[in-house]
Amino acid sequence: MNFHIMTLFPEMIMGALSSSITGRASDKGYISFNAVNIRDYSNDNKHHKVDDYTYGGGAGMLMQAQPIYDCYLALKNSIEEKTDKKPRVIYVTPQGSVFNQKMASDFAKEDDLIFLCGHYEGVDERVLEEIVTDYVSIGDYVLTGGELPAMVMIDAISRLVPGVLNNDESAMTESFNNNLLEYPQYSRPEEWMGKKVPPILLSGDHKKVDGWRLEKSIERTKERRPDLYEKWLLENPPKPEKKKRRKKKNTEEAESVNLENLE
Ligand code: ADE
Repeated sequence: MNFHIMTLFPEMIMGALSSSITGRASDKGYISFNAVNIRDYSNDNKHHKVDDYTYGGGAGMLMQAQPIYDCYLALKNSIEEKTDKKPRVIYVTPQGSVFNQKMASDFAKEDDLIFLCGHYEGVDERVLEEIVTDYVSIGDYVLTGGELPAMVMIDAISRLVPGVLNNDESAMTESFNNNLLEYPQYSRPEEWMGKKVPPILLSGDHKKVDGWRLEKSIERTKERRPDLYEKWLLENPPKPEKKKRRKKKNTEEAESVNLENLE
């Protein structure tokens, strides 16, 4: 996967993504980062201006269409020399669809992705109409620019690219797969500050451990993310009862039946 980032602050992107897991993965060639300075494409040879006042008035400056479009064309042409596929262009904006794990795995299937990071009061609408394929936000709050959101998305997408994580399993079992949050985990020592590791995890019985983990995932999701829990319940409806039994109390029963379903 090749990430191309159109930005006014390429050093911010390269600095952060060159460290830790994404840095190691790019050293090994599983992913690459190419942060391009939009300012380098300004037609204003003297001041390299990239922004101007907004028509109709209003506070702040707007990023102009021309430098962004020329920057995009240069990237698109270099990508199309290698593949004949037109790359997706993600504009990171609080006005986009809210990013989630499903979108991350969808984007991870691409060979090249272009991110456009806005600044100031935004970007001239005409260039967005011309080049953007996906409008994506990282949440309902406003940041000073698109670099941090782009890096958040790139990090989440990168770890789904084969080879990036050492342990393939950790990408499979963690939070948000099946709409469940991850179960609690423990490491040594067996007792810390008077708190003991749940004995079942020391039992060596993998089936029981899996059952316990699933139960904890469900409990945790229900408590912390009732919205996700509802989705999970829809996808894992309680099995119809075989024999007529006296009715147990509502959700307790739903969960125990759901646990059976997944065994
Ligand atoms: N730019 C500014 N705020 C943002 C957000 N919440 N998501 C994506 N891009 C942004």
